[in-house]
Amino acid sequence: MFNPIEISMKILLVCLGNICRSPIAEGVLKHKAKQLGLDWQIDSAGTNGYHIGEAPHRFSQKICLQHGIDISRQRARRFTAKDFEEYDMIYALALDVYREIEKIGYRQVQMNKVYLFLSESKEGSTESVPDPWYGDESGYLPVFDIIEQTCTRIIKRYR
Ligand code: 4NP
Repeated sequence: MFNPIEISMKILLVCLGNICRSPIAEGVLKHKAKQLGLDWQIDSAGTNGYHIGEAPHRFSQKICLQHGIDISRQRARRFTAKDFEEYDMIYALALDVYREIEKIGYRQVQMNKVYLFLSESKEGSTESVPDPWYGDESGYLPVFDIIEQTCTRIIKRYR
C-alpha cells in the first residue's frame, strides 16, 4: 500500500570505471529498494571516462545474475559536476574515487552529500571496496558480498 511518509531518495554510486563495482552497487540497491516498494532513484557513474557507454564487466554481470539481479542493460557514464545538483546522496566506493569527486566538488556545500560507501557498514571507516578489475573472476564474489551487506545497511538506515 502507498505510504505517504515514504521519502523519495536520489542516490548515486561512483567508482573509477563504472563497469565493475558501482554497477553491482546500482543493481543491488535498486533490487532491494524495489523489493520494499521504495521510491528511490538510483544510478551509478565513474570518475574516469575509459569505459563510457559500455555494459558492466562480464563478471559483474555474472555475479549479479547468480544472485537474481540483471544489470546487463546498465551503461557506463562519467561523473560530472551536475551530479551534485541531481542527487541527494553520492557514495564513493573507494577513497581514491572520493578524492576525485572532491576535486570536482571542491566547494564544501557540494561535498556535504558525498560519503564513502563503506562508512555505512563501519562507522568512520575509510576503507575502499577492493577493485576486482585487475584480478580474475574469484575477486567478484567477495566484492558482491561487501556491496550487498552495505546496501542492506543503507536501506535499513534511510528507508
Ligand atoms: P571499477 O573498476 O572502478 O570498479 O569499474 C575499474 C574498471 C576499469 C578501470 C579501473 C577500474 N580502468 O582503469 O580501465
